[in-house]
Amino acid sequence: MNRSPENSPLYILGIESSCDETAAAVVADGRLICSNIISSQVELHARYGGVVPEIASRRHLELINLIIEQALAEARLNLSELDAVAVSSGPGLVGALLVGVSTAKALAYAARLPLIAVNHVEAHLYANFLTGAGVRYPLVALIASGGHTTLLLMPEPEQIIALGQTRDDAAGETFDKVARAMGLGYPGGPAIDRLAAAGRPDAVEFPRAYLDEEARFDFSFSGLKSAVINYLHHLRQKKEELPLPDLAASFQEALVRVLVDKTVAAAREHNAACVLLAGGVAANSRLRSLMRAELSQALPAVPLYFPPPALCTDNAAMIAAAAFPLYRQGLFAPLDLNAQAGLPPGR
Ligand code: KG4
Ligand code: ZN
Repeated sequence: MNRSPENSPLYILGIESSCDETAAAVVADGRLICSNIISSQVELHARYGGVVPEIASRRHLELINLIIEQALAEARLNLSELDAVAVSSGPGLVGALLVGVSTAKALAYAARLPLIAVNHVEAHLYANFLTGAGVRYPLVALIASGGHTTLLLMPEPEQIIALGQTRDDAAGETFDKVARAMGLGYPGGPAIDRLAAAGRPDAVEFPRAYLDEEARFDFSFSGLKSAVINYLHHLRQKKEELPLPDLAASFQEALVRVLVDKTVAAAREHNAACVLLAGGVAANSRLRSLMRAELSQALPAVPLYFPPPALCTDNAAMIAAAAFPLYRQGLFAPLDLNAQAGLPPGR
């Protein structure tokens, strides 16, 4: 590689395989998407009502080389023109993660590139760096996805502190399980979001778990999930009917309220200069509108940013973007890097 570092952008190839998306992307300087290829396995898992880990791993293995080739071709770069290879090394399904990690290690070794291990949950927030948003610090980020619900604090660019996370079901998982009980199929979040638009959010009062003072930034959604499922059973037993849009809107309201209240409280407590939303659930229209309304009322000077829906759900551009500050700090991974299913956020 003969490019001079001063005027040439830094190209990072990102690889993502932590759950049911096989993805590769090239991002320049952590901000500019040169390519972003995503192959979703949603249809493969839909018939089982959720992700089947073994099927996910096999599919990743079939697709990953092809997806990486496409990402490089679309970016009009070859391996020797890259500056680093970054991979989601956890958290996630261990078999699925291993496909990405092994592929990234092989590429890094073969092309003599530095390898960067990225935390998948932290990476979600970096989707907001790909949209031209004026991110400022300290920032508070809510990462709500199918596998995680986490509140993160970034006091400054290279520091990430986990403020709280879910104690049981993740927000997206709760959407998916409730949708399944309502017969709406997988993934349930988008289906409930659409249905709720025509429903009354105050039709049924479902429980909202705020937890005690020490756990004020943690989440718990299993009580809400059970309450909605029990409510549905009772309706069916008594052969009563409640319009599904009302049920969807009431459930969504209970879940979204808790996400919004805790995020706004964290932003206030930590004097946030901006608030970021990320993860699949950040695509939810009620979460976006309620967060905007509540934040502008409580902290009018604090802007809210969220990525477009395609960058909310799993993708590899966010992995490459998250790797950029690690590259600048020289935080490279060894070639014996392993996948870590339970990798916690924070550094
Ligand atoms: O971030 P993501 O692609 O995967 C994980 O890292 O887990 O998030 C997928 C999750 C699914 O649970 C899906 O139901 C949820 O995000 N989701 C939504 C919406 N779009 C996707 N949940 C609520 N409303 C939506 N519009
Ligand atoms: Zn994710």
